Amino acid sequence: MFPSSIYKDRRNRLRKEMQNGLIFFPGNQEMSFNYAANTYAFRQDSNFLYFFGLDQPDVAGIIDLDNDNDYLFGNDVDISDIIWMGKQPSMKDRGEEVAVEETLPMNKLGETLHHAIAHGQKIHYLPPYRGETIIQLSDLLGYPLSEIRKQVSNELIKAVVKLRMVKDQLEIMEIEDMVDVAWLMQTTAMKMAFPGIIEREIAGTIEGIALAQACGVSFPVILTINGQTLHNHYHGNMLVKKRMLVIDAGSESEYHYASDITRTVPVGGKFSAKQADIYNIVLAANLAAIAAVKPGVPFRDIHLLTAREITKGLTELGIMKGDIDEAVSQGAHTMFFPHGLGHPLGLDVHDLEGMGEGFVGYDDEIQRSKEFGLGFLRFGRRLQENFVMTIEPGIYFIPELIDLWKAEGKHVDFIDYDVVKSYRRFGGIRIEDDILVTGDGARILGKQIPKTIQEIETVMEASYL
Ligand code: GLY
Ligand code: MN
Ligand code: MN
Repeated sequence: MFPSSIYKDRRNRLRKEMQNGLIFFPGNQEMSFNYAANTYAFRQDSNFLYFFGLDQPDVAGIIDLDNDNDYLFGNDVDISDIIWMGKQPSMKDRGEEVAVEETLPMNKLGETLHHAIAHGQKIHYLPPYRGETIIQLSDLLGYPLSEIRKQVSNELIKAVVKLRMVKDQLEIMEIEDMVDVAWLMQTTAMKMAFPGIIEREIAGTIEGIALAQACGVSFPVILTINGQTLHNHYHGNMLVKKRMLVIDAGSESEYHYASDITRTVPVGGKFSAKQADIYNIVLAANLAAIAAVKPGVPFRDIHLLTAREITKGLTELGIMKGDIDEAVSQGAHTMFFPHGLGHPLGLDVHDLEGMGEGFVGYDDEIQRSKEFGLGFLRFGRRLQENFVMTIEPGIYFIPELIDLWKAEGKHVDFIDYDVVKSYRRFGGIRIEDDILVTGDGARILGKQIPKTIQEIETVMEASYL
């Protein structure tokens, strides 16, 4: 846990962003896997972690804006709990760890909320994402289940997004440490990416690294020779020559900060000329995007600059044709680069996504596009110093999408479908880094992970010899 003053300071800063009422942060509960007592690994709610820090189930926090007080709710363990879980700190001690003086048992939570409602206080809460929390909110606040999502506090969402988007030095160190773990995951995967091995042997090994070095993975590992499927979690293929392996993986720290890194390597360790051509376009797009990052620049503009870089490269190879800017403005490149350039990173791997991307990635100035491709961009608004973002351009040859667009005669002025035919079985390439927006640019976080063709071939060659 961070020093207790951090949590107090965060709560006080939240207070300054809010008018009045009572802010309710339900912590997460245990979730059953296949029967009640067999539970998934416990993951605390990120907002609860941010403001109240405690990493345990069945606790809740309240910030009373009108009476200038904070409360923690949770039960002390009894002897039967101790037999199964061992001795635990008291809630009073836990409260001290996060600078909360008032700790109350869970059975006082409903009473406290009802008392506030009876005295006309507004109860602010954030969008719930688990059924258990929706039921808990319904029980405590007296709204029907169907009303719970409608009653969330937009004022609270905006305030929390404003605070959590800007990372402090301790948070940046946490993320950076996790990029270092991702370095070990990625370089280990590279060293294993030889013909004959099954994807799950590598996926299991790197998930093991995340468990051994940190608190596990920050999202289910994506590791596949079918990288044209963007979030491919199937790990049953054997690696074969001529394919590329996409490794998209990250770890989560003890305090639950994430890393999210992608590298793409040729099975066997040597890029073919065809692979190298496409790889270098994605690399140029990644580097151009990072070079363009600085406070005040709309992330949407960097996404479009990246799209332009990809279109330029594909045009030079004859896969695309015509005017580059026109192709980008009409969205022809989205057949090859259908997703967004990146997203915020923090306590959540897609940081704050649960708040609603309209509140996180867009604002009055920059609204989400409805177009295919640009519409998948999770974040479009202007960057600020100390935002942490991913930069993850890619080029994919998705046979089903190629066939569909060809049959529809889509973007025939910009896509040479005859040339595309020879890339049908190419797969996909993505290169993802985690960056910090600095005062005047960007810094790639963590240990440098092999990224150029030469760096990747050198790592893989060393392992093969
Ligand atoms: N790991 C999923 C993503 O890169 O967004
Ligand atoms: Mn990723
Ligand atoms: Mn990502």
